[in-house]
Amino acid sequence: MDTTMNAAPAYDFTAIDSEIEARVDDLLTRMTLEEKVGQMNQVSPNWDAREELEAAIRSGQVGSVLNVWEVAKINEMQRIAVEESRLGIPLIVGTDVIHGYRTIFPIPLAESCTWDPDLLEQAARAAADEAAAGGTDWIFAPMVDVARDPRWGRIAEGAGEDPFLGRALAVARVRGFQATDLAGGKRIVACPKHYVAYGLAEGGKDYNTVDLSERALRDVYLPPFKAALDAGAGSIMSSFNEIAGVPASANAFILRQILRDEWDWPGVVLSDYDAIGELIQHGVAADHKEAALKAVLAGEDIDMMSQAFPDHLADLVREGKVPEALVDEAVRRVLRLKFMLGIFENPYTDPALQADVLLQPAYRELALRVAQKSAVLLKNEGSLLPLAPETKVALIGPLVDDQPELLGSWACDGKPEEVETVLAGFKALLGPKAALTVVKGCAIEGRDGADDDPELDIEGAVKAARAADVAVLVLGESAMMSGEAHSRAYLGLPGKQQALLEAVVATGKPVVVVVIAGRPLVLGWMAQHVPAILMAWQGGIRSGRAVADILYGEVNPSGRLTASFPRTEGQIPVYYAHKSTGRPVNERGVIQFNRAHKVKYLDESDLPLYGFGYGLTYTTFEYADLAVETPEVPIDGIVTVSVTVRNTGERAGDEVVQLYVQDLIGEVTRPVRELKGFCKISLQPGESRRVTLNVPASELGFHGLAMSYIVEPGEFKIWVGPNAYEGLEGRFVLEA
Ligand code: GLC
Repeated sequence: MDTTMNAAPAYDFTAIDSEIEARVDDLLTRMTLEEKVGQMNQVSPNWDAREELEAAIRSGQVGSVLNVWEVAKINEMQRIAVEESRLGIPLIVGTDVIHGYRTIFPIPLAESCTWDPDLLEQAARAAADEAAAGGTDWIFAPMVDVARDPRWGRIAEGAGEDPFLGRALAVARVRGFQATDLAGGKRIVACPKHYVAYGLAEGGKDYNTVDLSERALRDVYLPPFKAALDAGAGSIMSSFNEIAGVPASANAFILRQILRDEWDWPGVVLSDYDAIGELIQHGVAADHKEAALKAVLAGEDIDMMSQAFPDHLADLVREGKVPEALVDEAVRRVLRLKFMLGIFENPYTDPALQADVLLQPAYRELALRVAQKSAVLLKNEGSLLPLAPETKVALIGPLVDDQPELLGSWACDGKPEEVETVLAGFKALLGPKAALTVVKGCAIEGRDGADDDPELDIEGAVKAARAADVAVLVLGESAMMSGEAHSRAYLGLPGKQQALLEAVVATGKPVVVVVIAGRPLVLGWMAQHVPAILMAWQGGIRSGRAVADILYGEVNPSGRLTASFPRTEGQIPVYYAHKSTGRPVNERGVIQFNRAHKVKYLDESDLPLYGFGYGLTYTTFEYADLAVETPEVPIDGIVTVSVTVRNTGERAGDEVVQLYVQDLIGEVTRPVRELKGFCKISLQPGESRRVTLNVPASELGFHGLAMSYIVEPGEFKIWVGPNAYEGLEGRFVLEA
């Protein structure tokens, strides 16, 4: 899979520079223990206690700050650090730029459905450019947690369920954030998070216990981080969760053995917000002092907000419990990062930059393009879509004209008033002649879960539907029903939306549903009763126009799912790359008590409602003539397959050609399918293209019995097709 980009080169924060090392050495020797500890302390500035904040910066007790949006405030803090502290060490300013800074793009899970690393690199670079103009040096992204549980609200922030796609998109985002042509000549360092396996939280409840095998850790959850660090990411953020009994912030296995001993990575490890302090709640530290001890010994370099390091680290060194060399090692990494960022030479941000950089037309256009390409057409029975412009439409639902909810749960400096709603998008596209009737119909959810909904107006919605040719419902979640700390046990439509939907469907009018959400939802009833469904996610400031462009055929939808949609919450986790087991559902199983005993539910299918890689378009594609060009492949060789893809429909369209393999026999069990290649192609009606995909044999390995990465000789199945459940099948053999 070729991830080389034709964008500006990215800065590699892992490349050690001897001049910088000399400057670090020199500075370290001049620092007091307190000043060193100060570099390991990150705070969110409390402007109500401004004098205390300024005194702490002036005395060198703060090394970095987070989530400050005003350039003037940043420059003032920086001035104190540089001009009033003893050593003049500048602060690093960190910001959660998760999917845009002011020009808000679709949530990352939506972006991942574009399957377009180049596009995502451009989006990340645009976000970084705006962030640089805003005084940010450090972007707390990309979030690269593999997630297979849509109850978990933070599935919204990542790239879905697959490590191979996750790796490709992690590389793209790191390169975009660390681009070398940002506003004001500033540099920005990326921070892949949350290290590690945070998405495996039990029950999909955020922050919850994670217990997994080292093999799953190494084969599924670590690869996107390794890819991000290999792409030059200069920092990483450890996660809140425990991993098999040891919380990440106290986990030397992941922070030292893997990051330093195995990967030889020189970057900075940042804890998550208060996570070091939370070692007390985890029950592995009696108090803050022991939390600081365990965290620094494990390998945390910077303490975000818990105060454990600033309050106790110097004492722990003086008491001989923490070698000062360990503190020096951490501070060295922090200082190295600051020199690489260039903030010793250029600590300040020109406030005039933002006027030209923020919300520039090119970024607004890019946000539209990403929103158009991230929406996934789930159903289009009878080709109800695209709609003709003269169609009389009843536009119904709580998200028809809602601005804040389209920004998603990490809206950074995005402004709701700058969001183009679905209604605005319809009007912009159709013009004043648009035959639209708008009825909200209900709230997104009952107030505080109460049964009443003062905005309930099902009668009005039914009346409008009856008077229209087509009813378009815009339904789903509010922005804060997903994201951090926002997990859901029920994944259907919130509040009275299902009742609204069923009442409108009961009119017998053709119905289109546009789903706005931060996660896969349970859409079973909708899938059975609604002819057309578009998953529009939370599409950012251009979301509304993107929806209109797709519904009226200005754009042919091309999104493909990167996280499975369960039929019911009871299926979770449901994902394509599962293991075969001893009694696979597609085989006979063992007959006992007149029943086939195998991996299945008595009361539900084992397949997701919509699976990984799935998505429809307004045309159709056909795959033919799969050729495994290399039926025998040496263990260090390359598997080459080719296939002909033809656009068999009436419209031009994009197809994501996907390549999956199955290692039939391994020394440990292997998934029934794994994505190992993809490419996106555009075809005119009737056009055919011969597509060739190459997979290095080194991509087919796994961590074997000895827990080392091995590539085993043996037979593989290979599929090339439109998603994880369809495709033309072939075989090849890896030879020793
Ligand atoms: C939050 C999140 C993390 C974020 C950090 C700073 O709790 O877990 O993703 O970057 O704190 O806001």
